[in-house]
Amino acid sequence: MNKKMHIDTQCVLEYDGKSFSQPHVLPIYATSSFVMESFEHGEAVFTGQKQGQVYGRYGNPTVDEVASKIAALESHGMEKQAFGLMTSSGMSAISTLLQSLLHQGDAILTQEDLYGGTTELFKSVFPAMGIRTFFTDLKDTSAIKQLVEKNPEIKVLYFETPSNPTCSCLDIKKLAEFARTNGLLSVVDNTFCTPMIQQPLQSGVDFVIHSTTKYLNGHGNSIAGVIVGKDEANKPAIWKTLKLMGGTCNPFDAWLVHIGMKTLGLRMEKHSHNAMALATFLENHPKVLKVNYVGLKSHESYEIASSQMRLPGGMLSFEVGGGYESAKKCINHLSLAKYAPTLGDVNTLVLHPRTSSHLNVDPSVSEKNGITQGLIRVSVGIESADDILQDFENALNKI
Ligand SMILES: Cc1ncc(COP(=O)(O)O)c(C=O)c1O
Repeated sequence: MNKKMHIDTQCVLEYDGKSFSQPHVLPIYATSSFVMESFEHGEAVFTGQKQGQVYGRYGNPTVDEVASKIAALESHGMEKQAFGLMTSSGMSAISTLLQSLLHQGDAILTQEDLYGGTTELFKSVFPAMGIRTFFTDLKDTSAIKQLVEKNPEIKVLYFETPSNPTCSCLDIKKLAEFARTNGLLSVVDNTFCTPMIQQPLQSGVDFVIHSTTKYLNGHGNSIAGVIVGKDEANKPAIWKTLKLMGGTCNPFDAWLVHIGMKTLGLRMEKHSHNAMALATFLENHPKVLKVNYVGLKSHESYEIASSQMRLPGGMLSFEVGGGYESAKKCINHLSLAKYAPTLGDVNTLVLHPRTSSHLNVDPSVSEKNGITQGLIRVSVGIESADDILQDFENALNKI
């Protein structure tokens, strides 16, 4: 340090970046901008002639590393690695991607039983930008063919499988092929599965999005999202929308996802094991009318789920007899399982979709899709299966 420097200046001085060894764990780069080595270096980076970081909203080493890691997982086993861009939330991943792919006058084709927030975005925000959405049964291939032929403004096919909260599955390969042959770009929300269970890009889908808030982080302490794309040629346009709409992920939340992902494989196995045990228990309980879990042979999507998912996953929902009042009693008597509006955590969590995530969805649409007043969604955690079953048994006995 310069001995002639005033003490005030010494307080303000930044580190020189040269005095550390290589860290064992990815560091959090808590910096809003990056120092240019020289005027020439700055010019080269800004004009894209040289790779480098300039400003946190444009990119950050922690965030970019985590985005690449998720992209590598989603494209694991494929010839070419996908690209990834992290966003400030799952909703930001959906809105940023679709705003970059669509223009005024374009339309989206999707299913009726999407995550409630996505439905609301498509119904009450996108129309003001001149982007319409057609909600239909995506299992009906001849009906969607007719719809696409009649409405050439449809440019994107957007879907979730399994759906939230009834776990209804769609055939990813079939829909990706449909999109390709009809000139549509396909997008899958893979939040429920993670790449440990299914890799939509391998089935021909163009883009995957995640709410990394859920399983990828897994510990309920980060809000973020990611866009993963198969074709690097699409990256600049999406990145431009991201940096200018400002939905960038912050490095701390990205770092928490990075730490969480180290145990993703172990967690998804245990979530699936426990969910299977709970689903089997609930299916045999006299107060339960129906269980939606893709690991059960009784589920309408059992066949398709078994063909495209490596594990059945940790999400299920079940319907208690007695509707709203019984669901309320059951939830209020759970003790280990907490009532919290998220999913994918190591802890078991429950939700009453009709009074939370699906509050703004037309009740007749919810009813038609099996989201009744007696339906309880469970994100099965990685605790001991015996303790989880005991908790649900106690609560059901109180109805
Ligand atoms: C399937 C699915 N996709 C997207 C989202 C939105 O994610 P976020 O809350 O991180 O914006 C959620 C949130 O619950 C979700 O369940």
